[in-house]
Amino acid sequence: MKIFVTRKIPQAGLDVLAKQFTVTINPNDRVLDKKEIITSIKGKDGLLCLLTDPIDKEVINAEPQLKMIASYAVGYDNIDIAAATKRGIPVSNTPGVLTQTTAELAWALLFSVARRIVEGDTFTREGNFKGWAPMLMLGQDVSHKTLGVIGTGRIGAAFALKSKGFHMNVLYTDEQRNEQLEQQLGAKKVPLSQLLKESDFISIHVPLTKNTHHLIDEEQLRMMKKTAVLINTARGPIINEKALVKALTEQWIFGAGLDVYENEPELSEELKRLKNVVLQPHTGSGTIETRTKMALMAAENMMIGLKGGIPPNCVNTEVFQKKPTT
Ligand code: DGY
Repeated sequence: MKIFVTRKIPQAGLDVLAKQFTVTINPNDRVLDKKEIITSIKGKDGLLCLLTDPIDKEVINAEPQLKMIASYAVGYDNIDIAAATKRGIPVSNTPGVLTQTTAELAWALLFSVARRIVEGDTFTREGNFKGWAPMLMLGQDVSHKTLGVIGTGRIGAAFALKSKGFHMNVLYTDEQRNEQLEQQLGAKKVPLSQLLKESDFISIHVPLTKNTHHLIDEEQLRMMKKTAVLINTARGPIINEKALVKALTEQWIFGAGLDVYENEPELSEELKRLKNVVLQPHTGSGTIETRTKMALMAAENMMIGLKGGIPPNCVNTEVFQKKPTT
């Protein structure tokens, strides 16, 4: 069977696939557009794609031979799952292996903003450091403050649990109660508005859906404390970027740490100019170990799926449900 991989991923995963399948990899280290993906999957049985690939209905229906889509990401808002399910194509993702890595990046951003690390680095490199000064580059304490976690699934919960050493008061929002967080941290489930008003640090960990698009808009930003720090390692469109630029420019909040952007990879010029925001190029899962695990996981899902089994990380298991006999 033949597989198309939309961009080079760690070799370990490709080696696994190459043992069993004929693998074609996008020879260019860049994102392919929809037309290029459609052309590339001609005659292929499997598609291994990335979160940057637009896998919509048109792509999914383009190749009759296509039997399996393995995504090299945990978030799959770029894939039309309903269209894949309709065609009986299983779609898999890579949950779990990137949980701690993404939670760690959220903390790295939180500290970078709170202690003005990037600003301080630039200041020092540029020769502006003339000696210790009582009022130089003052930031925000983290310990004993209130942490607001929006979404306490795998990554949100791991992020919250890491606050333990900082003795924080933890608030969270979720559709369901997270008893582990309540027991281990004394975390309190509160409405979003309360979390926004009371938290010193707010971190977003929900998937991008119709309901979470612009979950943080001007109204929500205005609810936050003037000293609040907002972190987003989830998906860009969860925050209205225009409203965030306004909030940061007019200093409604202290700062923000972003790994994702509303129109990724584009970001507004104003955002680039602001000093109270730390910007990262969507590297939440970006460590050697984690990316290797993601590649192996995507390869395993692909192998099992193409052999007719249920991929361990299938997100649309409905495709395996037996149709009722009439
Ligand atoms: C994912 O896998 O969805 C992450 O955004 C990758 O960093």
